[in-house]
Amino acid sequence: MSFVTPVEMEPPILLFSTGYESDTYRNISETGEFVANLVTEKIKKQMYVCGKSFPRGVNELEKAGLHWEPSEKVKPPRVVECPANLECKLEWTREGPEYVVVAGRVVAARVQKGALKAGKFNAEEIKPLLHLSGKSFVVGDRVVEL
Ligand SMILES: Cc1cc2nc3c(=O)[nH]c(=O)nc-3n(C[C@H](O)[C@H](O)[C@H](O)COP(=O)(O)O)c2cc1C
Repeated sequence: MSFVTPVEMEPPILLFSTGYESDTYRNISETGEFVANLVTEKIKKQMYVCGKSFPRGVNELEKAGLHWEPSEKVKPPRVVECPANLECKLEWTREGPEYVVVAGRVVAARVQKGALKAGKFNAEEIKPLLHLSGKSFVVGDRVVEL
């Protein structure tokens, strides 16, 4: 998901928008839970496979060659290859005409060893991927301090 943003720190709330027909939305409607997994340059091709349309019930992580493991506090698993995973419980949804905004409260966060440097994301090392449009991305691996 590229339409995603944090909106509050305390409590930690994350928003993203999706279509009513997406399996993501259907799964969240059924379970009230989801996991946001940070995408990095290393897994850009696998991420793109997950972004394709598969019939409901197909394991997209398996199709992409990614791995999953149990989350700590929610039933949906988290993606092993992602250096950060935010486990969320559904807080609310806001229905638009053709899209829905989903708000999740982060109930657990897991950060891989080495993904932090002096208490901050080690962006040079992790190389998070930012979506520009279509198949274009920015690699966010340069930190500037003011
Ligand atoms: C780079 C990228 C960014 C995407 N961003 C979003 C997004 O913000 N919201 C969305 O609904 N789908 C987005 N998609 C499409 C989804 O990955 C996915 O195809 C769609 O939500 C339906 O998948 P699902 O049925 O497995 O949920 C994006 C795909 C790619 C490749």
